Amino acid sequence: MSLEGRELILGVTGSIAAYKAVYLLRELTRLGASVSVCLSEHAREFVGALTFRTLSGRPVLSNLFDPQSTDAVEHVALAERCHAVVVAPATANVLAKAAHGIADDFLTTLLLAARAPVLMVPAMDGGMWDHPAVAANVVTLRRRGVTVLEPDTGALASGQSGKGRFPEVDDIVEALRRLLAPVRDLAGDRLLVTAGPTREPIDPVRYISNRSSGKMGYGLAVAALRRGAEVTLISGPTALTPPPGAVFVPVQTAEDMREAVLQHLDRATIVVKAAAVADYRTKQASSVKIKGKRDLTLELTPNPDILAEVAARGTTAFVVGFAAETHDVAEHARAKLESKGIDLLVANDVSQQGIGFDAEDNEVLLLDRWGGTRELPRMPKAAVADAILSHVLGLRAGITRKTPA
Ligand code: PMT
Repeated sequence: MSLEGRELILGVTGSIAAYKAVYLLRELTRLGASVSVCLSEHAREFVGALTFRTLSGRPVLSNLFDPQSTDAVEHVALAERCHAVVVAPATANVLAKAAHGIADDFLTTLLLAARAPVLMVPAMDGGMWDHPAVAANVVTLRRRGVTVLEPDTGALASGQSGKGRFPEVDDIVEALRRLLAPVRDLAGDRLLVTAGPTREPIDPVRYISNRSSGKMGYGLAVAALRRGAEVTLISGPTALTPPPGAVFVPVQTAEDMREAVLQHLDRATIVVKAAAVADYRTKQASSVKIKGKRDLTLELTPNPDILAEVAARGTTAFVVGFAAETHDVAEHARAKLESKGIDLLVANDVSQQGIGFDAEDNEVLLLDRWGGTRELPRMPKAAVADAILSHVLGLRAGITRKTPA
């Protein structure tokens, strides 16, 4: 894909990899893009503005408060109408500022003004990339829809080897192309997704629940929206913000969730049940706070199995369930797939550190009703969500279907 007619902003920040931004700029202009370069103050210490000015054929943006410049407002307008902003290299500092909405120079101000997709290309020392503060800022940005590339692994400027290298220019251009031409392969689909835990009251102040954060289900909703689907997100209580564009249905208990799912089921073409529904509720929740320091016995009764009920209703939607397992994952998951009568089961081993409940990553096994299995490696939940949706489309189109039911 040529970049002819594309208006881009290239932000360059103060990393030793700043010189590589020159090669990136040359490639972007070679592909036909019009590029305005914005240098941070520290980037100027590494590469002079004249290089970028010459290669872009435009003045370099850098000083928000330059009394000689009359075009600060105009350049903010440019940020509003450009097709994409690429920050390459992106230091730990600019990732932190962008994650926290700090706008104390031209580039960070542009990032707040930009309405176009943003691609961040981190480059830094391996120890910095691994620092929890940097990791948290990357999570915040990704959750907000910013594309943050993974740095390459190899020799670093410090002389050490590790993860933090500026990626190859071709890889950055490829990521930019994907950003500029988003896949709309779910256009026309209506996704019904459940997320988060349910809360089953014991009394007015206590409840039975589980550790689901909702990240997996919300990740599916965000990915499906980006790919063109209409999305209804039915969610138990979480700390997450519902993605703009989704029909959001908040629920508390399994019974609330069942009612909401059945109410929205007819319109759905794909149902994904990522929620961790409490298997039991109290037979009779107390209407007043239970007092005393004595032993307490709660009588529990099973909650309705929403997923099995959806499948039993003979819906025409493609039905995907999740399975949270702690041992013999494949065996239990296959049994669950069959007992629930669904099309695809996504199994995760929730006994593993760093995946499953309340983790940023997941590592899942996909089992389909036609006997197929596929393992997905550990990756951020956003990427797992995309892979699940692609797998659903593949199965639905009969591409990856192994043997007929
Ligand atoms: O929310 P996160 O912190 O991101 O964590 C993600 C996750 C671990 C919650 C998610 O990946 C996951 O595994 N979700 C399913 C958890 C679960 O309840 O698994 P299960 O094996 O108990 O249930 C199997 C399936 O039946 C699930 O699709 C569940 O939604 C559904 N179910 C279960 C019980 C019930 N009464 N009704 C149901 O519909």
